[in-house]
Amino acid sequence: MNSVLIGFGASLPKKRILNTELSPDLNTSDEWITRRTGIKQRYIASESETTSSLAVEAAKNALKHAKISADDIDLVVVATVTGDYTFPATATIVQRELGIKHGAAFDISAACSGFVYALDIVDSYIKTGKFKCALIIGAETFSRIVDWKDRSTCVLFGDGAGAVVVQAQETSLGVQYCKIRSAGEFIDSLKTSGGISTTQTSGVTMMEGREVFRFAIEKMNEALQQLLLDNNLSVEDIDLLVPHQANSRIIDKIIEESGITKEKVVVTLNKHANTSAASIPLALNEVKDELFKKKNVVLLSMGAGFTWGAALIKFSNNISGR
Ligand code: UT7
Repeated sequence: MNSVLIGFGASLPKKRILNTELSPDLNTSDEWITRRTGIKQRYIASESETTSSLAVEAAKNALKHAKISADDIDLVVVATVTGDYTFPATATIVQRELGIKHGAAFDISAACSGFVYALDIVDSYIKTGKFKCALIIGAETFSRIVDWKDRSTCVLFGDGAGAVVVQAQETSLGVQYCKIRSAGEFIDSLKTSGGISTTQTSGVTMMEGREVFRFAIEKMNEALQQLLLDNNLSVEDIDLLVPHQANSRIIDKIIEESGITKEKVVVTLNKHANTSAASIPLALNEVKDELFKKKNVVLLSMGAGFTWGAALIKFSNNISGR
């Protein structure tokens, strides 16, 4: 049994903020943000928009795209670090809002690597036959946990949700490989200033930007090389690369070091900024029309922890689809 990605959906808050619309008090500029990160705008949730409301809308769009009903879903996994409540899991709210009365729902926390971590979990469940059809949603209201006075972090992040329907099928298509990693010795390089058990607050995001930058390039490249080796592929065999969307300079470095053709790399951070766990599914949604023609699609993630991971997904056996 293989895990086949059959539908994609997204949801963004209504309010879009361009670089030029950021507060003058931040002492930043469109020129700096564009040159150093590639980000041009981000979407910011209003008070009435929450991680679960974005997740539900993205999920409904993914179900529509997959042409299946919510009743077909027996597992809901939400990757987030900005859930609606300390408990219950945001995934259970999604389950309720979609009217799903069976199966299971839970959240996972792996920051920006959350989607690839969730895919690995769901793939394992599907391969063992425990679940038949899952919704994986990366959803964040990251704007709630940034310090809006700290220009070195707040300009980088945005809110949004991306959802994918993953179905068990007897086929050679689908998830071919998924490998997740973490290195806990780096927790202090990217973390919040508080938490439930320490400060009884969520805290705000603190990041040692340059260290995260270096590590992201090193580990995403390493994960890509391992994926190629483990699957007996060369970089030319990749049809589409969907990396975590944090900084275009990180993506450029991965292109340079791996030798992959630039046109095969999906970049959406100019539109959404860094949406943490939502960044990969939002990017997948952007390219959903071309995905099903691709043979080898690679996902690469890196986030707080540090956590990182890589996945190889086959959407078509037809090489002429390239
Ligand atoms: O999603 C998890 C993964 N996250 C990431 O992958 C993020 C990784 N890190 C980065 O993308 C980059 O390190 C940043 C975008 C965060 C920072 O870029 P950088 O080129 O590493 O800049 P820097 O931190 O070395 O700062 C350079 C200068 C500093 O000024 P001085 O000390 O040289 O005078 C900063 O104060 O840029 C200044 N600066 C800003 N200036 C205008 C920092 N943020 C801003 C800003 N606007 N928003």
